[in-house]
Amino acid sequence: MWDAEQYLRFADERARPFFDLVDRIDHPAPRLVVDLGCGAGGLTATLLERWPEAKITGIDSSEEMIGRALKRAIPGRLEFERTDIAAWCAAEPLDVIVSNACFHWIPAHRRLLENLVAHLAPGGVLAFQVPDNFDAPSHTIVRELSTSPAWRDRLGDLPQAAVESPGWYAETLMHLGLDAKVWRTTYKHLLEGENPVLEWLSGTTLRPVLARLDGDERDRFINQLGPLLASAYPQGPGGTLFPFRRIFVVARLPG
Ligand SMILES: C[S@@+](CC[C@H](N)C(=O)[O-])C[C@H]1O[C@@H](n2cnc3c(N)ncnc32)[C@H](O)[C@@H]1O
Repeated sequence: MWDAEQYLRFADERARPFFDLVDRIDHPAPRLVVDLGCGAGGLTATLLERWPEAKITGIDSSEEMIGRALKRAIPGRLEFERTDIAAWCAAEPLDVIVSNACFHWIPAHRRLLENLVAHLAPGGVLAFQVPDNFDAPSHTIVRELSTSPAWRDRLGDLPQAAVESPGWYAETLMHLGLDAKVWRTTYKHLLEGENPVLEWLSGTTLRPVLARLDGDERDRFINQLGPLLASAYPQGPGGTLFPFRRIFVVARLPG
């Protein structure tokens, strides 16, 4: 379902929240670090410099993404595994679990967090970032088109992203015994190119939609969606402004 090339078209904009998240992780000397939903592994590899003593493992369920990530592997230092996070189990307690822009693809966040916290070593940190823009035009327009009479038989039952509120994450992690810092930020991306919001979504949100459709249907869907997105996100003198709200969580298990 994933197209690494398309996803990486906006690599700089997509990397910023990863670095903003990782900057806030304060662990004296992590030995074992896991990046859940590591994608093509480029951001995972930057953790080698951040924690030179750690063994870093990237986990992703996509064959295409993990295929690319494996080209960066350094045995014993930077490894990658193709696994579904919902079924994933670490062999040893972990010092840092990081995840950027992935958990919204995974339902049942209480169960997910319980499982991840159970993998932390004492003093371990769970840090993740999820998009929180599902009420923005970029998403409501896709949802409305997918459930319109023309498309609802093919697309009406697609699962929606599973993201809770910042308060929910803070409270749930507090009840699991962690000291959680939770915050929300809106990035005002300035994108270049023709209808860049359509291009952005084609690398993420539209993947499950397009995977359902055959070639002609895809073209028809994109031809209907394109003008709707272009008018919701008009081009300005310096590019197209694309506000994108995200939730950040950095939670520590007592040592
Ligand atoms: C939007 S990309 C983010 C990639 C990378 N973390 C980054 O920030 O560039 C989301 C990634 O999560 C992975 N993913 C989604 N659901 C997953 C699951 N259940 N188990 C493992 N990986 C998953 C996808 O394959 C994809 O590579």
